[in-house]
Amino acid sequence: MSARRPIWPCERRWAATRARIARPSGNGPLGNGLIANGRSTIIDTDIRGRSGLVAQADLDGPEAIFPDDFVWGAATAAYQIEGAAAEDGRGPSIWDTFSRTPGKVAGGDTGDVACDHYHRYAEDVALMRELGLRAYRFSVSWPRVQPDGRGVLNVAGLDFYDRLVDELLTAGITPYVTLYHWDLPQALEDAGGWPNRDTAYRFADYARAVHERLGDRVRTWTTLNEPWVAAFLGYAAGIHAPGRTSPADAFRAAHHLLLGHGLAAADLRSAGAKELALVLNLAPVRTPLNGARAADPADAAAARLVDGLMNRQFLDPALRGSYPDDVLAVVERHAGLGHIRVGDLDVINQPIELLGINYYSPSVVSYGPGEPANPSFPGTENVRFEPAAGPTTAMGWSIDPTGLSALLIRLSREYPDVGLMVTENGAAFDDRVQGDRVPDPDRLAYLEGHLRAAHTAIRAGADLRGYLVWSLLDNFEWAEGYRARFGIVYIDYETQRRLPKDSALWYRDVIRRNGVL
Ligand code: FCB
Repeated sequence: MSARRPIWPCERRWAATRARIARPSGNGPLGNGLIANGRSTIIDTDIRGRSGLVAQADLDGPEAIFPDDFVWGAATAAYQIEGAAAEDGRGPSIWDTFSRTPGKVAGGDTGDVACDHYHRYAEDVALMRELGLRAYRFSVSWPRVQPDGRGVLNVAGLDFYDRLVDELLTAGITPYVTLYHWDLPQALEDAGGWPNRDTAYRFADYARAVHERLGDRVRTWTTLNEPWVAAFLGYAAGIHAPGRTSPADAFRAAHHLLLGHGLAAADLRSAGAKELALVLNLAPVRTPLNGARAADPADAAAARLVDGLMNRQFLDPALRGSYPDDVLAVVERHAGLGHIRVGDLDVINQPIELLGINYYSPSVVSYGPGEPANPSFPGTENVRFEPAAGPTTAMGWSIDPTGLSALLIRLSREYPDVGLMVTENGAAFDDRVQGDRVPDPDRLAYLEGHLRAAHTAIRAGADLRGYLVWSLLDNFEWAEGYRARFGIVYIDYETQRRLPKDSALWYRDVIRRNGVL
């Protein structure tokens, strides 16, 4: 892997970075990246679960100009925007089934129509062009191109993505394809879903078919979006499709998702794919320091456990070819290890060029004697998941850009061979149309803070190559339905009118200037 990039930028810049890393001064508040003396103090939990100061940087400096070739764009996902759920031969996905199950999605919303992007893609690409986007990350709907998840391909489905890619290229926008953003064909769920090993092989077949059709024009191929969410919200907590509540199934699903990633990455590489990527939802897992200089050891152990389940369970197999011991112990307790076969980790550990990071919020946990396990994190008995502190978004997620800097710096140190891209970052707020405008100062501030944080990480040596806002459009926010608006473009779901919010116009200027002034 390292042969691809013999000189890691961090190696050159690390000395300078180290100079910025200091012990806490004691006069600023500690914990969770609070501002100390006009500078931002970035606190993180290290690999051993210790909290400490990672870096000090000017998050709110006057100017944050990015490298010349920095990629600016936005992201979406098929089920969240396309609609046309029963058109042109598309088969049902687990999200069609789940959203039709009473009580599963707020407001009984479904993706049947969504943003009608299937029919309005040309208008949407024109909008992207007006906003100056250089890159667009979208996902391909597996059941649209292979209705049963195996066998016969639906040519009309592939034609849609063909048209979309051509439209993007004509507009000068680079397509970033994600092959799996959670919409498993229902037929495969009926055959056992991701806990069934066979699904990984079916995924690789499907990936090859899509690449065969688009590979001449698409350079960057992402296998999976957020396998943690697919496995643990889908099969353990049951709050996402398919809605199962079995920790054993979730751990098996996680492994088979990783296996599917490896199989597909290997196949696409031999088919000539130029750039391969995996997108993970990652976050620093912090402890409440409560004014102390170091984390309480019991809190640190809790943080390490959650860090293992959320971050290292995916990072280590994909980028190092091994499961961390502490994660494996939890897997074994819930699911045994029989599903992890000899050779699997070699398959999973394919060289990839890009790690996509979806970052929204840090997690904060502490030792909580007697706490039951969090259903999304089997194995976390005696861990307290702290409520979000400080300002939050409409999702109730805490707003903390220092988590992004800390995460990017950590990834660059611990997994130095892979390039980084922020493939999702953004926020839901209660937007209101006012005349022809949608003033969204909170989102604008969120984005600006995170861009400055990303810039801080680059200055500290992180090999960050791009930033994609989540999301281009308001859309179907999974179990939240349409009530959570993440778009920089407002959607009036009655009329399907698109209206760029103030943040979109601001983002256009950011792209023009290649940074934040
Ligand atoms: C991520 C998902 C994306 C969207 C955002 C808010 O976990 O990848 O589809 O729902 O969260």
